[in-house]
Amino acid sequence: MSIGDTGLPRGAVPDAFDAGAGAYDQMVGANPGYHDHLRISALRMRISDRGRGLRLLDAGCGTGASTAALLEAAPEAEIVAVDASEGMLRQAEAKSWPSSVQFVRGRIEALAALGVEGPFDGILAAYLVRNLADPDAQLKRFLTLLRPGATLAAHEYSVRDSRRAVWTWNAVCWGIIIPSGWRHTRDTTLYRHLWRSVLAFDSVTRFRRRLADAGFVGVHSETMPGWQRDIVHTFLANAPHDR
Ligand SMILES: C[S@@+](CC[C@H](N)C(=O)[O-])C[C@H]1O[C@@H](n2cnc3c(N)ncnc32)[C@H](O)[C@@H]1O
Repeated sequence: MSIGDTGLPRGAVPDAFDAGAGAYDQMVGANPGYHDHLRISALRMRISDRGRGLRLLDAGCGTGASTAALLEAAPEAEIVAVDASEGMLRQAEAKSWPSSVQFVRGRIEALAALGVEGPFDGILAAYLVRNLADPDAQLKRFLTLLRPGATLAAHEYSVRDSRRAVWTWNAVCWGIIIPSGWRHTRDTTLYRHLWRSVLAFDSVTRFRRRLADAGFVGVHSETMPGWQRDIVHTFLANAPHDR
């Protein structure tokens, strides 16, 4: 089941990111807290022992901002970073990474066909789930990819619980993000998709329930500091021990 109508067919989302890839890092760099908040979500995964001996998945890694956050939280882990947008992945690969980080191009729905198998000791999905055609099916797939007890962190926007959050989101999108996207790329498709898809996405309670319905346990969420309070959240969920 998809989550609301956002005006951009979900299958087309990675293509829209291709168009915005060149401007992505500059745009998110101008967003106070963007990188810090990814780091906070990665730390909230409570990855043990600097990630020594662990294998982590960055699902929808984009230009590598979330990969860098995971790497900082777990510098000794092996990290597999997957994205379907060639443009975004090219930006990521152009950066400097240790050999423990591997980038793979393809849809997260088809990981096995890309030669990526579980189990993983943790998955970070930053700003991904909202864009998926069938989030429930993907959450179940994430569960099967995780070792028992391992954590999924979905770093995601959710504004429906707070009128102030909706007001702020509308103001930030129409006052900053969409005009800035136009200045950088002369195309607002991606940025209007971002605006609409966030308004259409689950409330915090609804998304937590989605995670529990997929079979995760210990589901909870924490929001971020700054203007993103009650707008950006880390949703944390564990694979049960008894599967
Ligand atoms: C908003 S970006 C976030 C990138 C990165 N995680 C970050 O935090 O900066 C979302 C990314 O998800 C990717 N994406 C969307 N749907 C996807 C899918 N079905 N499979 C793989 N990647 C997907 C897009 O190509 C895009 O790079």
